[in-house]
This record gives sequence, C-alpha cells and structure tokens, in this order.
Amino acid sequence: MTPEQIVRTFVDYFRERGHALVPENSLIPPPGDPVLFTTSGMHPLTPYLEGRPHPFGRRLVNVQRCLRTTDLDEVGDRTHLTVFQMLGSWSLGDYDGPRSLRWGYDLLREGFGIDPGRLHVTVFGGDERVGPDLGSLETWRELGVPVELTGAENWWSNGPTGPCGPDSEIFVWTGDGPPRGTPGTDGRWLEVWNHVQMRYHRYDDGRLEPLRQPNVDTGMGLERMEMVLRGNGSVFEGEAFEPWVRGVTGLWGLDGEALRRVCDHLRSSVVVVGDGVRPSNTGRGYVLRRLLRLVLTELWRADPARSLGDLPTEPVERTLDRFGQRADVGELRDLLLAEERRFRGLLRRGGPIVSRYRSRSRGPLTDEDYRYLHDTHGLPRELVDAL
Ligand code: SER
Repeated sequence: MTPEQIVRTFVDYFRERGHALVPENSLIPPPGDPVLFTTSGMHPLTPYLEGRPHPFGRRLVNVQRCLRTTDLDEVGDRTHLTVFQMLGSWSLGDYDGPRSLRWGYDLLREGFGIDPGRLHVTVFGGDERVGPDLGSLETWRELGVPVELTGAENWWSNGPTGPCGPDSEIFVWTGDGPPRGTPGTDGRWLEVWNHVQMRYHRYDDGRLEPLRQPNVDTGMGLERMEMVLRGNGSVFEGEAFEPWVRGVTGLWGLDGEALRRVCDHLRSSVVVVGDGVRPSNTGRGYVLRRLLRLVLTELWRADPARSLGDLPTEPVERTLDRFGQRADVGELRDLLLAEERRFRGLLRRGGPIVSRYRSRSRGPLTDEDYRYLHDTHGLPRELVDAL
C-alpha cells in the first residue's frame, strides 16, 4: 500500500463508523498553548477532550503532522522521526476503549491484511493511583492477541499537565521468521498504533481528576505502517524519504545513521519553515536552528566544504507539496544558507575558546562547563560538542 492508500483505508474505515474527518492543523499550536509544536493528533483537540462540544460531533478521524523533539536522540534508528504523520481517531465521550480496540483489530486484519499472528499488545498494569486496565486486558484476551502488562510506558500524557490516561499499544512483528519475545524484550516488535483512554486531567501538583467525559484517542504512525505493510527495513525506505535519501546520498555520499539523521532533520526543517517558523535563539525558531546545526555538524564531520546550497530542489518541493505548504523554494534556500553562514561564523569564533577551555579542564566537560560556555560566550552545547 502507498501512504495515500493507507490514509484512505484508515479514514474510510472510521467514516463508515460515523467519524467525521477533521482538517489537519499546522505544526504551530494556537497562541497561549504551552507546547511549542503539535506533538500528536490529539493535541489540537485538547479543549474537546476536556468537554467542549466539537462542531463535527463526538466521533472524529484525521491525519495530522506532528513534531517530536523528545525523539531526537533516537533518530538514526529504523523507526524514529522528528516530523511524522499520525492517523488518529477519537471518541469524545461516546464509545469506550474496548470498542476502539475491537475496531482497531478488525482494521489491522481486514483493512490492512496484517496476519494476527504478528500482533502483540501492551496494556496498563496499574500503579499506586490507578488500577490495571482490565477492560483492555479482557478485550485482547477475547480476541486472542498476546498481552504484556506494563506500568508507566502505558500511561499517556501530552505533557506535565492536561488530559491523560492508560493506553494500549499495538505492535507488529518486523523480524525475520516467527515472532519472538514480547515488545518489552525484543525491539523487532514495532509499535504502530496507540489507543489511549483519556479519562483524567493532571494538574500542576500531580493530582489526577476524572475528565467530564471519558474519551478515546488513538494514533497510528503513517510512516511506520508503510514500513510494516511494504516489508521495508526502515521508515527511511518509505515514499516520503525516497527523494531525500536519493538526493543526500548522491550529493554527499552519506550512509547508515548519518544519512538517516541528515534526511530526517532536513525534511523536518523544511516542514517547520513551511509552517511559518524562522530560525531564532528561542522557542520554535531555536528548534529549527538546532535541527539545521545537527545536519551541518554531521556534514562537516567529513568535509567542511559541504554546503546546504547544493541541496537539490526535488526533495524540498515534494515535501512542501505533501504537506500542502506554499513556501518559496528560493527563499527557503536563502534561509538555509544564512543559517549555515551563521554557524560557520560561530564555529570560527568559538573554536579557540573551547579548545583553551578544554586544555585547562581535566576530563570531559561537565554540565557546569557547558553552562559557563553558554552563558559567558554564547556557545550552545551542540556547538561545543561540534568543536
Ligand atoms: N495521543 C496518543 C499518541 O500520541 C494517541 O494518539 O500516541
């Protein structure tokens, strides 16, 4: 299946079951929102999960681009990305978690043709505040899917405060040969879909209170589903990355994790710029700046003459097209080049400072050293590491 077919299959399945398609939001949350970027499909729906009636009703479905900096360190493996697309379905105080799991199982089997023998799930086993999720446990047992009970890994929240609740994650076996172990013991189990029962609100002081209505919030990673359904070795073999991998390999001959990181960060930077962010030293702009500096650090490791100005336009255009963004490719290239010049300048000025500092300090730099270099000389940590 192509990504378009996956999206259509998912959306049609839920529309046939009374869900209204809600339009995709940008990566930029509305003003006043505490998070920098939209990190999951539920995020723009927060007020409705909290009880405000949604104009489209109580059953919703959508496709949402998301950005997660929390996964930044993991990018380079087979499955993590900073920007990805999430297919989501919601019950706003309508049907319950077991209903959602049954539909999920049916869609994976009948709609996507996944052999149920390749499935494993995890369920919240309870903690000191909330008991085990027996409804999900029983449902999966009835469906004959193996279950692993866990603790904090199966408690979903979008941040320190806000709606949260126990979740049940669905994994597909991606190894050669028959499945082995459990999601907790074997990394070849790939999480593709998460069903969260958003039943609580967490306050600043950690207190949990039941929401006005119990909701269900599910999220499926599109790039991961494509990997599973096509039997690809990683998400970087998918359609969204094909022009990036081709372009970056042809230009700079990178491979392995470096290639994946450069492709991921460049593509994410394009999407972030496409949603209107410009580089800066704080907030969203700093995330963008950081992504680009990680790319440049990777590129200059082998050859400091490499330049973002050489990037082919095809991957940039295809990415902007995919997300329906209208950024001007020429302006985007100028922006990348300006960031590159700025970073080169910083490296030139910072190099001697850091090497002086290193030769004076014994052993590796400590957090305090990094703080000093940042506060006194304006040198951020990733820059110090790159010197
Ligand atoms: N909010 C959940 C997640 O991001 C399900 O959408 O995994």
